[in-house]
Amino acid sequence: MKNHDIVEKNIGLMIVLVVIAISFGALVEIVPQFFVTNNKEPIAGLKPLGPVELEGRDIYIREGCHVCHTQMVRPLRAEVERYGHYSMAQEHVYEHPFLWGSKRTGPDLARVGGRYSDEWHRSHLYNPRNVVPESIMPSYPWLFDNVVNGEHTAAKMRAMRAVGVPYTDEDIANASKPFIGGRVTEIDALVAYLQQLGTLVQQKR
Ligand code: HEC
Repeated sequence: MKNHDIVEKNIGLMIVLVVIAISFGALVEIVPQFFVTNNKEPIAGLKPLGPVELEGRDIYIREGCHVCHTQMVRPLRAEVERYGHYSMAQEHVYEHPFLWGSKRTGPDLARVGGRYSDEWHRSHLYNPRNVVPESIMPSYPWLFDNVVNGEHTAAKMRAMRAVGVPYTDEDIANASKPFIGGRVTEIDALVAYLQQLGTLVQQKR
């Protein structure tokens, strides 16, 4: 009781002890990560996103899809049964910034690739009520009119390479090719991005 009195009445000591307690908690969580090396190895078959998917990912971020959708299936039975194999660090090593998210107004999208047809996604993104009558997701009709010009795709790849994504010189030289002639709309790019999400891991569904 007396010791507790001393701590409670001495704010300086209290601060020191609180810092020690928090640091210990952080050390226990953080330090082991420095020794787990296989988390940083890409999963077999992982490739950096192609130019169209990379642009699609930026549209996903611009439109704030990650604000309502997570991309991380937790290793809990209910999640694995609903969404498929739990997410693994090795699937995300080329993602900068990662889009795991923390809020699920809509379903998790980590394994949505291949679950629906391209037509389903287009119809859904044009107006979600087309395919899910009770949906509260916003409509994104402008994605069908906006064309991706690819003018910054090479620069985006170079930026990704600077943080460790293995784009080759050839990838970067060809970055704007798919966009020549205005053939790729924003909806094409976004759907291409969605269709590859989580497809490297066998779906147990
Ligand atoms: C305001 C929150 C909100 C935002 C923002 C949002 N969504 Fe959704 N999304 C939902 C909800 C709720 C559902 C479930 C109903 C439905 O399928 O429409 C959903 C469903 C989906 C599904 C179907 C998932 C499945 O497994 O059935 C996809 C794909 C999807 N959203 C993609 C997107 C994309 C891409 C964007 C950004 C362009 C986006 N969402 C933005 C709320 C949101």
